[in-house]
Amino acid sequence: MSNENIRNEKMEAIVSLAKRRGFIYQGSEVYGGLSGTWDYGPLGVRLKRNIMNLWWKMFVEERDDMYGVDAAILMNQKVWVASGHTNTFSDPMVECNNCHGRFRADAIDTGKCPTCGKENSFSEPVQFNMMFKTHVGPVEDESSISYLRPETAQGIFTNYRNVIDSFHPDIPFGIGQQGKAFRNEISPRDFIFRTREFEQMEIEYFVKSEKWEESFEMWRQLVWQYCEAIGLPTELVHEFEVPDKDRAHYSKRTIDFEFDYPIGREELLGLAYRTDFDLGNIQRETGKSMDYNVKGTNEKFVPHVIEPSFGVERTLMAVLSAAYTEDEINGEKRVFLKFPEHLAPVKYAVSPLLKNKPELVTKAREVYKLLKKKYGAVMWDDNGNIGKRYRRQDEIGTPYCVVVDFDTLDDNAVTIRNRDTTEQKRVAISEL
Ligand code: GAP
Repeated sequence: MSNENIRNEKMEAIVSLAKRRGFIYQGSEVYGGLSGTWDYGPLGVRLKRNIMNLWWKMFVEERDDMYGVDAAILMNQKVWVASGHTNTFSDPMVECNNCHGRFRADAIDTGKCPTCGKENSFSEPVQFNMMFKTHVGPVEDESSISYLRPETAQGIFTNYRNVIDSFHPDIPFGIGQQGKAFRNEISPRDFIFRTREFEQMEIEYFVKSEKWEESFEMWRQLVWQYCEAIGLPTELVHEFEVPDKDRAHYSKRTIDFEFDYPIGREELLGLAYRTDFDLGNIQRETGKSMDYNVKGTNEKFVPHVIEPSFGVERTLMAVLSAAYTEDEINGEKRVFLKFPEHLAPVKYAVSPLLKNKPELVTKAREVYKLLKKKYGAVMWDDNGNIGKRYRRQDEIGTPYCVVVDFDTLDDNAVTIRNRDTTEQKRVAISEL
């Protein structure tokens, strides 16, 4: 597997487990891979959806002040001119004078070329625009240029007026969106940490300009609640006040929430005060009013915006890193993923004690069907002996293993084994 510059033993163990057990595979692996892309396997897609569904429920469904949208990835090229991305969405890139490899300037921390090892022999940095360019329709000229969106945010701003006209929300209110974003990163790295195709979960929260600090503070607290809800230990999450010179062109204040990944402390998500930058641009470029009219009054203004922006891959990598645990059971090393139950891709694994005893298999199938109907994320596992099944389920983070044995045929009860404590309990099937 291409390691995309994975720099750490624990990270390597996680990447290898993620591949072996069907969470995440390298993109296009069978054809030799495509740098900066990753595919989700059967367990990865469940974990990812559990995270995204939790976010959607917490920030959209359970709130009265939030609306959801799902905008197209391809947008009119004017969007990216107005937003400033065509001019400024770039990273400094250097080229090795020896092997002609190209790198993000800040990735050359040792002065050595990461590909050929040649020291201190690079071109002057040039700005490289990270948007993927394409053409819409059969004619490839200037007018048909479009981009794969580099942030989902613009699909929210372009629908701000539509949502107001359809729903007449009171201010403050927000619009949330989840979806793919694309950046032609010069140096993708560290597994799914920096990729070229990824998923964002973004909120644009519209406020009166004089109230921005209040809303910023509210979202700051909500971000902490989210980190707790996905099971990240508080001591591994840190706020970083981004200094003026490092903030995105649209932001007057940004706090990066960073996580102590195995590769080091790195950005997990961002909380920005985007002012009226985007709505102001749309108003100027389109000539259409972006005013919010306070109901029953003549008060009109272009709202300011607080933007909490979450990356799905970085969240998933934090969840995997926090869950990855090694311990010892009866003198043997054990690896398990200690996912919070609500995120675990498989909630229950069901098996007959012996797979060659038809009466046990029939009973176990009954229990399996019962649980599957109730929870969906239930796995049938009758491979190998029971000890091996437990280890396998531990490795994918299944909180409970249910075993049907000969006693079950008499007492209609099963053994439930707890992933974290390895304790076993006898429970009546009717109480499962
Ligand atoms: N709309 C604001 C915005 O896009 P950003 O800080 O550029 O802000 C927001 O991106 C989040 O998207 C980041 O905090 C990170 O979680 C995720 N993200 C950005 N670039 C990424 C990449 N190349 N690979 C994976 N996730 C990325």
